[in-house]
Amino acid sequence: MTDLLGAAIAHPNIAFIKYWGNLNDDLRLAANSSLSINLAALETRTMLAFTSDDNPSSDTLTINDQQITGAALQRVTAFLDVARDMAGTRLPARVTSTTNFPIGAGIASSAAAFAALALAASQALHLPLTEPALSRLARRGSGSACRSVPGGFVEWQAGSRDEDSFAFSIAPANHWGLVDCIAVIEDQQKQHGSTAGHALAWTSPLQAARLADGMRRLDLCRQAVMQKDFEALALVVEQDSHLMHAVMMTSQPALFYWAPFSLTIMKLVPAWRRSGIPVCYTFDAGANAHVITTRDFASTVANKLGELDGIKQIITSGVGGSARLWTKDLDGTNND
Ligand code: DP6
Repeated sequence: MTDLLGAAIAHPNIAFIKYWGNLNDDLRLAANSSLSINLAALETRTMLAFTSDDNPSSDTLTINDQQITGAALQRVTAFLDVARDMAGTRLPARVTSTTNFPIGAGIASSAAAFAALALAASQALHLPLTEPALSRLARRGSGSACRSVPGGFVEWQAGSRDEDSFAFSIAPANHWGLVDCIAVIEDQQKQHGSTAGHALAWTSPLQAARLADGMRRLDLCRQAVMQKDFEALALVVEQDSHLMHAVMMTSQPALFYWAPFSLTIMKLVPAWRRSGIPVCYTFDAGANAHVITTRDFASTVANKLGELDGIKQIITSGVGGSARLWTKDLDGTNND
């Protein structure tokens, strides 16, 4: 039997309204709906082959030319088991992935990784999945990965069951020329992964208050995006980031993701906004600042960030499209 091949490209995303805490950790059913943009300049490319050879007898994973074992491989195997169950096969897979951005540093690498893997696996296994079904499959690998399947401005409707918890596009990538200037403050693997963090969210007395107000923030954010109202966007994006970090910091044990320089950025950015620059910040489960602005002000903001001591690297990206098949090396053509 010939190998079953698949290859796909996906972008990471940055959430304006965050996902933090699950109703069901195994199925990754989010406790609240969230909203994000895909990041065009950053991508993960994944090739995979389900093989009937005896070698290897279990899944293998290579990321950026490094052979990965242990928990990260087990997570990929658990995810591929979901796809294998859908296709009725037990074949092991060889997975090879490359990223053009630092992984594990709060740049949602798992979102791009599992969105690309879900699409590559569905191609290889001949699973005819609709976009919502593909988003649901990606969600099983990493919750935020469901938002990297559709393109542009994306909402993940949390739902309450596997069937109704998926993401969809609310506006295409070219709807609004926003730019994320990622100020890399720490480029090491973060200490506490998101998966463990989600499980701790319920130990914070603030999680209930954060969830109770969640729909208001989501509605405000969606409206700001649709109306391209930067000021309204800035206020709700910063508040939502603070609320998630308040839950993290009041969980037991407490999770502190910010570095001292993260706070410096939190003080500077609103001052830049008061001076007339459309700019705001948001932080995922990491110290790095996602400084959001418009295309017209992207170089101004990147230059201002570049003048600060304490930032290792600035990565800028506009809004990106959906996960897509990558035909290179499969049939001799290249759809880059
Ligand atoms: C802070 O999707 O990385 O980035 O499902 O365990 O992989 P797992 O968690 P993950 O959590 C993302 C958390 C966040 C906020 C967000 O992207 O919405």
